[in-house]
Amino acid sequence: MGSSKKKISRVCLLVGALVSFIACSSDPGAASPRLAVPFTSDISINEIMVAQIDHAAHFIWDAANPDLAAGEVDWEEVEHHAIQIISSRAAMTMGGTGVNDAMWVVQRSWRDYVEQMNAAGLLALSSSRAADQTQLSRAGDALIATCEGCHQQYKPSIPTEGYRKRH
Ligand code: HEC
Repeated sequence: MGSSKKKISRVCLLVGALVSFIACSSDPGAASPRLAVPFTSDISINEIMVAQIDHAAHFIWDAANPDLAAGEVDWEEVEHHAIQIISSRAAMTMGGTGVNDAMWVVQRSWRDYVEQMNAAGLLALSSSRAADQTQLSRAGDALIATCEGCHQQYKPSIPTEGYRKRH
């Protein structure tokens, strides 16, 4: 009992010392001020769509093909492409150089579609890590619903920069 009390008080001393050290060393305006402004992409949402999201999604849909045997799915590649979908969430909520990007990213329904795309990406990721074909197929369906939903509402009939998918 006694020794554990001693231990606790020693820990308290240590924590106390640490807190006061942090408090004293955090001088506002010192060498590395925090930045509140996020980076925005030097590319457009149109480019992100064609060169990242579309590529990643097509890989996932191909891998979700029910005709493939379990051993034919390259799960590591599925994992990488799921990560690309997930990582594009940030770019899709900040926008970049596209003429309409700034207007799109502040719409609530835009954010909802991006969140749905992210959730589908997360499902694809966990499917890849569990090598679960049934779940991957659900992720593929969820993913396509987000493309269609968002495109119906936001995609101009001609891409703003004329940058479209060729393959
Ligand atoms: C949050 C909204 C949103 C989601 C989700 C979304 N897109 Fe897009 N997408 C757009 C917008 C807006 C454009 C047009 C961009 C422009 O022209 O500036 C576009 C353009 C494209 C283009 C280029 C135009 C073309 O017809 O070749 C492709 C390809 C594309 N999207 C594929 C996809 C795929 C595949 C998915 C789903 C995995 C997807 N997008 C999900 C909003 C979205």
